[in-house]
Amino acid sequence: MKIPFAESFRIKMVEPIRHSTYEERERWIKEAKYNLFALRSDQVFIDLLTDSGTGAMSDRQWAAMMLGDESYAGSSSYFNLKKAIKDIVGFDYFLPTHQGRAAENVLFSVLVKEGDVVPGNSHFDTTKGHIEFRKATAMDCTVDEANETQNEYPFKGNIDLNKLEAVLKKYPKEKISFICITVTCNTSGGQPVSMENIRDVYALAKKYGILVLFDSARFAENAYFIKKREKGYENKTIKEIVREMYQYADLMTMSAKKDAIVNIGGFIAFRSEEIYRQATTFNIMFEGYITYGGMSGRDMNAVAIGLDEGTEFDYLETRIRQVEYLGAKLDEYGISYQRPAGGHAIFVDALKVLPKVPREEFPAQTLGVELYLESGIRSTEIGAILADRDPVTRENRYPKLELLRLAIPRRTYTNNHIDVIAASLKNVYDRRDTITRGYKITYEAPIMRHFTVELEKL
Ligand code: F0G
Repeated sequence: MKIPFAESFRIKMVEPIRHSTYEERERWIKEAKYNLFALRSDQVFIDLLTDSGTGAMSDRQWAAMMLGDESYAGSSSYFNLKKAIKDIVGFDYFLPTHQGRAAENVLFSVLVKEGDVVPGNSHFDTTKGHIEFRKATAMDCTVDEANETQNEYPFKGNIDLNKLEAVLKKYPKEKISFICITVTCNTSGGQPVSMENIRDVYALAKKYGILVLFDSARFAENAYFIKKREKGYENKTIKEIVREMYQYADLMTMSAKKDAIVNIGGFIAFRSEEIYRQATTFNIMFEGYITYGGMSGRDMNAVAIGLDEGTEFDYLETRIRQVEYLGAKLDEYGISYQRPAGGHAIFVDALKVLPKVPREEFPAQTLGVELYLESGIRSTEIGAILADRDPVTRENRYPKLELLRLAIPRRTYTNNHIDVIAASLKNVYDRRDTITRGYKITYEAPIMRHFTVELEKL
């Protein structure tokens, strides 16, 4: 008999989670104004809101926490992290920050000016927020395949070189802050960027004299997909692939809450000493002194270990196979999602699952609320609410895709939980004909509205 696959860890600490009744959930979600962010975590049974900061640290990481050096300046934890960054991605200069968006804030304070453009592959919302806040424009150059959820294209995070070159030709070099490659591309469904594409983008960038930044939150998952899907990489280790990827980057921003498997943390890494020096001033102003930047010593120690563990094949295989397991269950039930399954999440195609809900009434949000009512699962809308209004016209932006993200925390849930998620979604899908109306917005913030939006049921 073929031996089945099993996780490459065992569990030595657990945290209880709580069931609730339909009536309780109905009351709680109404009180939360139908915004899943506004729920209390004890009102949630399985929390798929995000894979960010929600993973389980290892025994090695917890042990390293105890050895944290809390000196204000020059702590050993800082040097541990500096060494890990040098070993894993090869950069000499780095600044710790408290998380990914803080890294964006500090670095963009140096590089992004009013009127600039920032081409890339579907920028993450805080990245776009930090660009638009500086009155610059994020330009999405992702390949068109990313907009066809049923297309099995293996690298839907890729940048379309023609779209990119059109931007590089149109704007003078001084107006292009940098090219941003998000690995994996969260917004397009946790989809990877191929090594070939990374190499081609870098070559084009150098032809036009532009810097390349990797938004690196899920860089290790990206490397796993390169190993699995790209010819010539099947026998390379994840660490070798990562080193090769970063030969084609000048800068990186990192949310360590994802692939470094910590609850808080981030950093910026640089090839250029000059840009590093400019950024230090902003780091000291916004984050903290250059050797802690908003992180405690113990946090930096945990990130250092996490970077090493997060780039191990066995860990990544366990992680990504669990996401694929959820995808396979949904296939069984005929539920459409962004194919192939992403690295950190399944992105359900809400327009296909709830075809009767008009786009102006937010089908993905509607699906998210229904899934919560069904069994207490919390997910996130990646659709028109998240897309915000156009900063100039103030009209609602309707992205091509209207998705519901089921983000899977690292090393946290078992496949029994995955079975519950899939069955709950199937139950909602089975009653899709009865779900015809969605929600209207009663309150929204001027930027990044999805976090605090308030809704009313129609
Ligand atoms: N870049 C990407 C690709 C991200 O996915 C995130 C966060 C950030 C930057 C910002 O990092 O949260 O540490 O400040 N993504 C989380 C998510 C929040 O749920 O996808 P952060």
